Parts: sequence; structure tokens; C-alpha cells
Amino acid sequence: MSQTTIGSAVARVDGFDKLTGRARYAADFHPEGMAHAYGVYSTISRGRIVSIDTSIADGMPGVIEIFHHDNFPTLHRSPASFPEENMVDELRTPFEDDVVHYAGQFVALVVADTFEHARDAAYRVKASYDADSAAANLAQGLEGGVTEANRTERGDADSAFDSAEVKVDATYTTPVETHNPMEMHATTARWANGKLIVHESTQGVIFARNTLAKNFDLDPSQIEVHADYIGSGFGGKLWLWPHSLATCAVARELGRPVQFMLPRQNMFTTSGHRPETSQHIQLGAKTDGTLTSIIHDSINSTSSINTFVEACGGSTSSLYASDALRVSHATAQVARGTPTPMRAPGAGVGLFALESAMDELAIALDMDPLELRRQNFTATDPSDGKPWSSNHMLECYDRAAERFGWADRNPQVGSMRDGDWLIGQGVAACNWDAMRNPCDARVTLRPDGSATVHCATQDIGTGTYTIIAQTAADTLGIDIGRIHVAIGDSTFPHGQISGGSWATASILPAIVGACKAAADKLVEYAANDGAPMAGADTDDLLFEAGVVKNGRGDQATPADILEPQKLAHAIGDFHSDGSPEDGYAYGSFGVNFVEIGWNPNTAQLKVRRVVSSIDAGAIMNDATARSQVEGAIVMGLGAAMFEATEYDERTGRPVNNNYAEYLVPVNADMPELDVILLNHPDYHLNELGARGIGEIGLTGVQAAVANAVYHATGKRIRDLPITLDKIM
Ligand code: MOS
Repeated sequence: MSQTTIGSAVARVDGFDKLTGRARYAADFHPEGMAHAYGVYSTISRGRIVSIDTSIADGMPGVIEIFHHDNFPTLHRSPASFPEENMVDELRTPFEDDVVHYAGQFVALVVADTFEHARDAAYRVKASYDADSAAANLAQGLEGGVTEANRTERGDADSAFDSAEVKVDATYTTPVETHNPMEMHATTARWANGKLIVHESTQGVIFARNTLAKNFDLDPSQIEVHADYIGSGFGGKLWLWPHSLATCAVARELGRPVQFMLPRQNMFTTSGHRPETSQHIQLGAKTDGTLTSIIHDSINSTSSINTFVEACGGSTSSLYASDALRVSHATAQVARGTPTPMRAPGAGVGLFALESAMDELAIALDMDPLELRRQNFTATDPSDGKPWSSNHMLECYDRAAERFGWADRNPQVGSMRDGDWLIGQGVAACNWDAMRNPCDARVTLRPDGSATVHCATQDIGTGTYTIIAQTAADTLGIDIGRIHVAIGDSTFPHGQISGGSWATASILPAIVGACKAAADKLVEYAANDGAPMAGADTDDLLFEAGVVKNGRGDQATPADILEPQKLAHAIGDFHSDGSPEDGYAYGSFGVNFVEIGWNPNTAQLKVRRVVSSIDAGAIMNDATARSQVEGAIVMGLGAAMFEATEYDERTGRPVNNNYAEYLVPVNADMPELDVILLNHPDYHLNELGARGIGEIGLTGVQAAVANAVYHATGKRIRDLPITLDKIM
């Protein structure tokens, strides 16, 4: 490696295209003859469709066809296999029957020559229903029964809790949150010569391709899924939703390209959400703070279409040492669409409960809450007894505490003030898995000294383009400006989803391998007859800084090697099997310190400071990594104080399904964010030492806020979001 761009804050290589509008998103493609589709959505939350009256809509200007359950082409039932990479969370195929499972479910799809014509006609389709009573929220859903999904146990947690010297026993609840990426879901589909070509806003071009292959009974080679640019997804775009399948189906039926864009209000119903949770935590400890029992029993809302488990206890089995533990997950059905992963699924809400309970335990013990966490730190993963590959949680605690000034905190509730404001300071741990999966890549070296990297992954805005370019530039020793990154295309070598915080750890080893394979190929060509180093033993040749060198100080450029042999390029392919080293447990760790102000006179709650320290392995790009953590903290503060999708108890319909009433933090809500990235490589996970960083920053933020609110006000808020009425 002749240069090192890895780790530095290289500006996004896709920044220019995005800023100048050259970046094209799924709905920016307008193939010749393209029609537009617009949905008609159920207004009831459970029951049957009695009739669909299209008599007025049929005659509206520009209308081409109106599809519904009576005339929709039959698709193969949606698959759902993570190992086969064709997951969906709505198992039902669109329009497969007259059953309504949730308000906002598709009941018809109007196709017209323009978007406006399709929308106008859709408003004039009349559906009538036979409505059943429905569970509109988790509390109502619980009346219909609870299904346990899984349980993990160590020792006898109940009796250990019963006999504990100090206990906390509390239930925490979190609301539905809805993914609101800037770019709405969109599909532009066309069929040509038996092939299906789709521009889709997706976090996984391979998953999207495989799902369509199953639905349409095609070989994956007959499908191309393109996602050059994506305006984020937060998990809502991991798997395909009904609109994608429906758009592809009607494009085939009509023999012309069709585009569909999911309106913002329907993103609240038919493309997933983070479910409601109710989490019962019981912690037992000795008087010195040693945990003796951890119990985390959670229930989340799911749909009548599919069972989605929010793994609230995902971090609970591993974060703290305790001989006795029970983590269980259960679900209850409500009349909503199926939930789906939303950034930090599981731990995102699970650590609100666990880390709030840890704060309650610290108070019961009259112990510093940071000290309680230090005391229960575990150097091995208690769930399997394996040592952590790399765990610098204690350093996170130390460094963030020092930066925050935790030592100056007066633990007395309501004791800290700034003028009219009561000040509260809270702490909570962060945790996320560190995972790695198989990935292929191809690198092509050209005579002009440039290189192209091909991989069927995508950049949802996190910086994947940039870290791939950095990795290739460093491995090949050529300038980053000469690296072209080609991703977002399912026809490229098999890549990974942008999810689970595993893209970086999975993709980059494949990029390194393909770069080395391409360099080896060029070395081999350099030793060919008629080549600059003809007859040389390839073991004596070295590719370095973009040229092939021998031991005598001779150099040959790619042009010197390739042109005389009339070779267009040297190609290297690599398959990374995605296996981390055996014998270790893998995770990322961190801590959030939050300071809030509460003004009892004006009932204002304000986050004043956040200091976070994150141990997520080697940092590939200090700018994009920092942005990920900062964005996650913003999302965590939103979950703590603002975000909640509210449903009308009578109809089951979301009532704040828009940007005006679904509150997310704005700049005025945000304090300075101070993020410390530890940057300790995890070489057991991969040769770059990189883990992932997309999700961890969100975990524990809500608890840190709730703990700070308690410190200021003495009010323990166990129900998110922490709205003003709950403090007053
Ligand atoms: Mo993330 S919820 O795995 O996109």
C-alpha cells in the first residue's frame, strides 16, 4: 500500500453527482412509453372487500387500466427466506384475494398516462367493505392472545430474582415508529425480451432480484435490479413491498413500462414500521451492585399476515454478566401491515428498557449508574462463554465520562440548575452485533491506470461508494480519483444488503481480495512472451503503486503490459466467504451521556449535550462514520422525545401519517453532538479490522434521555416518547 486513505475523512466520491442532480434515483428513470400507477387503499382495518366500483374512474382522462383482486394477474406467493436472500415481511401477494388485513392495504391500482391522471382516477374508485372489528393497538391486540416466539435462559432467573437483595421490576413501552427516509419508495419496471428490468429504491439489489424471481417464476438471470442512488431506507427498504411486485406485474400485463411512487402517507401503512413493544424487565442484584438475575420479557405487535419479532432482548443476553437470565419474545396480532426492521431493530427499543432499568437499579442501590455498568462489565459473551474479539466498552465509559464531565454530576435528583432550568444528566450503554457475510467483487485494471470495482451492493447514503473507493485505492496503491465504483446493479458480482450494520465488514474484504487478484493477473501478463518482463518468474514480480516491478528496479505500467498484447484489461475476481475467526464473540459497544434541561415554568424539555463514545472497530472514513453515529443519535433523540405513529382506536388508521404531524427532530431541537470513535481494529472479524457503524449510535439514546429526565425532575418515564405532558 503506497498511500493510506482508509480511515481519513475522504469526501464522498458520489457527492458531486448528488449535489449537481446527476444522481438518478428510482423514479428519475422514464423509459419510453412509461405509464404511471397510483394506489387505492383500504379505509377499513379488517374485513372483506364487497365491491370495487370503477365505473367513473374508467372513463377518466388517460386511464389505461384499473387492477384489483378480480382482475390482477396471479403471482407466486411471496417467498420469505433470509438464507435464500428473498425476504419479504408481507407474505401476501398484492391483490391475492378480497381480504383486508389493515387500513392502507392496496385494494386497487390505477394505471394511466400521467401521474396526475392516475391519481385523479384513483380518488374516484369506490370500494365498499364488510368490516370486522379489529385490534387497533397492542393493548387491544393482547386481548386476542399472545404467542411466544422464543426464549433464552441461563440458570433459574425467577428464583434468583425472588431471592435478590435489591430488585427492579418495571414495564417499559414503546410506540410504533415509521421509517421516513427522504426518498419515498419507488419502482420503475419494464419488460424487454423476456427480461424484467427494475429501478428500485432498495437496500438490497440481490434480495430484490431473488424475490422478483420467485414471484414471477423467473431465473434470477432474467432480472436486473438497479439502485444507483438511494435516499436512505432505515430498514424499510431491505425487502420488497407489495407496490414493487404489483408494478412489475402490471408492466408485464400492459406490455409497457410502469412507474409507481409510494406517497408519504402510504409509507405509514404498506411498507413496514417498527412495532409497538411492551417490555417487562426484572433485575436482581447484590447490595454491591453485582447482577444476579436479568429478566427481559417482551411482546411486540405484529400483523395477521406474518409474524415479525422485534428482538428487544437481543443485547440483553450478552451485555452484562449474570448467572441467571431469561430473555423472551412474544407477539400479539393487530390490524396493521407487517412490521419490518427499523434501524437497530431489537436493541433500538430493547436498550431503552434495559438501560432505564439499570438506572433504576443504580438508584435503588444508591450507586453511581456508570459504576454499576462498569461493575457488571463482562469480558466474555455470557450467552456462549466466548471471549469478545475486541471489546473496549470500559474505555468508552472512561473517555466519554471524562469529556462529558460526569465526575462533576451531583446525583441528587433536581439538584442541578442553570437559571430557570433544571439540569439532568443520564447515561446508557450502546450495543450492536458485529456481523460479516459472504461477498463477491470484481476489479478491472485498465491500460490508462484506472480501475473499476464491481459489486452488487448499494449505497443508501451511508458512504459505501466512498469506502469502497478508499479500499481499492489503498490496496492497489493508485489515486482514488482513478477508481470507479460500480454498485447498485444486481448483475454485478454477488454483494450484500445495506443492513444489519454488516455491509462494511462484508464487502471490503471482497474488494481487497479482488484488487489483489487483478494485480496478480497483471503480474502474470507482465511475464508473458512479448511483455515487458517476459520470462520472469511471477514470484519475483510485484504490483505496487499501480505498476509492476521486478527486483532490478524495472517498472511496467498497465499500458506497457496490456497494449502490446492487445489486452483490454486485467480482471480479478474474489469470493470472500464471510466467516469471522472461530472462537470469538463479536459485537460493537459504546455509551451515550445526555444532558437535558427542563424548564418547569414554560414546560420546555431541551437536550443540551450528547457525548457518545463508540467502539466499532477500525474506522474506514472518519467523516462518513461520524455522520452515521451523529445521524443515529438524532434518530435516537427523535425516538426519545418525538416519534410515534398514532392510530385511531376506532378505525385502526394512522392519524399523523405526514411530515407535519409525525414529529422528528429538527435543527432547533438538536444540541452539539460530541462523538468519540475509538478506532480499535477488530482483526478477528476481517483483515481491515472494520465492523459496521450504521445502527449502534441509536441504541441506548432513549434511555440516556429518560435517565436524564429522571435526574432533573424525579419523573421516571417508562413510556416513549417522553412528551411534555408526561413530565408535567
Ligand atoms: Mo437496518 S434496520 O438492518 O436497514
